[in-house]
Order: sequence, then structure tokens, then C-alpha cells
Amino acid sequence: MFTLSNLITSTSALIYKPNHQVKLAKMDATITTTADHHVATQSATTDHLSPPQPLSKNAQKKLLKQQRFEAKKAEKKAAMKEEKKRQGERKRKEWEEKLSNLSEEERLKTIETRKGMRRERMEQRNEERESKTLRLSEAKKSGQKVVLDLQFSELMAPNEIHSLVKQIMYCYSVNGRSVVPCHLWLTGYAGEIESQLQKMPGFDKWIIDKDTGPYINTFESQKENLVYLTADSENMLSELDLNKIYIIGGLVDRNRWKGITMKKAVDQGIQTAKLPIGNYLKMSGSQVLTVNQVIEILLKFLETKDWKESFFHVIPQRKRCETEEQVAQEEEGDEESEQGLKRQCIET
Ligand SMILES: C[S@@+](CC[C@H](N)C(=O)[O-])C[C@H]1O[C@@H](n2cnc3c(N)ncnc32)[C@H](O)[C@@H]1O
Repeated sequence: MFTLSNLITSTSALIYKPNHQVKLAKMDATITTTADHHVATQSATTDHLSPPQPLSKNAQKKLLKQQRFEAKKAEKKAAMKEEKKRQGERKRKEWEEKLSNLSEEERLKTIETRKGMRRERMEQRNEERESKTLRLSEAKKSGQKVVLDLQFSELMAPNEIHSLVKQIMYCYSVNGRSVVPCHLWLTGYAGEIESQLQKMPGFDKWIIDKDTGPYINTFESQKENLVYLTADSENMLSELDLNKIYIIGGLVDRNRWKGITMKKAVDQGIQTAKLPIGNYLKMSGSQVLTVNQVIEILLKFLETKDWKESFFHVIPQRKRCETEEQVAQEEEGDEESEQGLKRQCIET
């Protein structure tokens, strides 16, 4: 019988194969939509096992919704860029007008004041940059190790890889702003993900560690300290242990590859744990979070030692409902709370 487990086993075997070895022969030549691309991508990695399955109506709806969302986002971004340009022009005109109404002496004084303010802002920015460098360097020496496992690129469509690269950039930026940053590692750093990251301005100066090989080799001597974070684990994370090395799966898959990180960790004989989301929140959907959300939660927890605060800080309100206990408390004191809760549970 064809089971999820043997699908994962077979696909795991393909994860490490270079692109040209993945059979693409059966891919439909008329691929036009992202939905088709998903089918094609899955068939590309599993076509020797089963015929490509068309996306369910629900999945198609979700995909369409996502595409509309992306299109709106791009439109909004373009409009914002335009507005910023307009604002810049307006400010420049105002400034020139202001100067033209002043005497020569006042003009020089005004220009000098503005220069001074700019200098101050630059100094402040430099100070912030230095402090960030210092904190990240400290974290690299003695901070909590968090590994992004980048060995799944063969399982992602190009847009998903692109999205993962953006998430990694976001993780680095949040880490730099954190009160207690972590020691970030990229392992399995190779191929398309590597070349996209290399193109990012400033990437070569990132204060992180990276290894082209798998984490299991990188941390060979500390295997007992490796903990794969995965929503499919039965173990609930209670604390973060500085001696442990927490691994996050570098995957953007809308959980298409359900259970793949759990399977990998079990095969390798390393520990697993899930975030204790269920103890503090009810989610309106699945508890599988994105890479950057998981990192942000860990960082907030390093700072606050408070899971609830960390989850509430990161998980968008539309994705969470409060726990029943909290709801009951609120219902006692607030007639509108039920309505409020409903509002929170609606997926937008
Ligand atoms: C988008 S998820 C990938 C889901 C993928 N299908 C899998 O099997 O892991 C990205 C990564 O974030 C981490 N993650 C997401 N939700 C989590 C949770 N509730 N608890 C622990 N780790 C989680 C896992 O390391 C996961 O691999």
C-alpha cells in the first residue's frame, strides 16, 4: 500500500539529489498557473511512485486567494513607492520655497541647522549599527544556537524558495534588533538558496555561521544536544536550554510535505519538540508556523522567558483564538467578549 511514510522515505531520498537528476519528463508542457506548478513539482519528485494528483477544490481556492493576496500586495507596494516619491518632491519644493523667502544670513543658518540634524541622525544610526554588531558577535560566541536546515530546496517551487530566502533575511534582521539575539546557523547552505542569498547586499557581512553540509555532520560531536523543532512532535518545549541546538526546517510548503521534518529527526535519532502553543492559545488553523515566526517566538522567549507573551507578540490575531479559560474570564466581565473572540477566530 502507498502510505505517507513511504512517500516521505522515497522523497527524502531525492532531497539531496541535484536538480538534473530529478525526473521532469512527465511534467505537463502547458504549465501556466502556480497551481499547476505545484502539481508539476510534486510529480517531479514523486512521479515514479504515483500519477500527479490534481489539487483539490479547497487547495485551488486557497491558492487563488494567495495569488490575489500577492497581486494586491504588489499593487500596494507600487502605490506606496509612488506616494513616497511624491512626498519627497513635495518636501523638496517646500524646502526650496522656505529658503527663497529668507535673507542670505537666515538661509545659511537654516541650512547649517538642517545639516546638524542630519549629522545627529547619522551618528545615532551608526551607534545602533555598532550596538547590533556587538550583540550579534556576543551571540555568536555564547548565545542560544538556532539552526536553519536548508536541505529541502528540491521540494520547493521557485516562488517558495524565493519566499524562504525572504524569510531568512527577515530572521536575520529580527535577530539583529533583538534584546537577546541567538547564534544563527545556516546548514545545508548550497544551491539555489545560497545563490539567492549571495545576491543580497551585505549578506557577506552577516554575523552568523554557515555550513554547506548537513547539521548532523556540523554538530557530529553534539548529536545528543540536537533538537528538531517540529509541529508534529509529541514533546512540548518548556524552556530553551543554552546547551541544546534547536533546528528549524527551512521549508515553505504550506505543509504539503507534512511530517517530513519529524521523519528526518526520527531517522537520524535526534530529539524533537514542538512549541507549547496549545497551552496558551487556540489557533483558528493549524499550528504549523513559518520559519520566521518560529525564530521570532524563540527570540521573544529568550528576552521575556514568557511563552504567552512570545506567542501573542508573533502570531497574528486572525490566526489565534484565546484559550477557553481566558474566554470564560472575559465573558464574566465583558458582554462584548464573545463577539470579540469570534472576530479573532475569523480567518481573513
Ligand atoms: C513551514 S514549517 C514546515 C512544515 C513542514 N511540513 C514540516 O514537516 O516541518 C517550517 C518549520 O518551522 C518549524 N515549526 C513550524 N511550526 C512549528 C511548531 N508549532 N512547533 C515547532 N516547530 C515548528 C519546523 O521546524 C518547520 O519545519
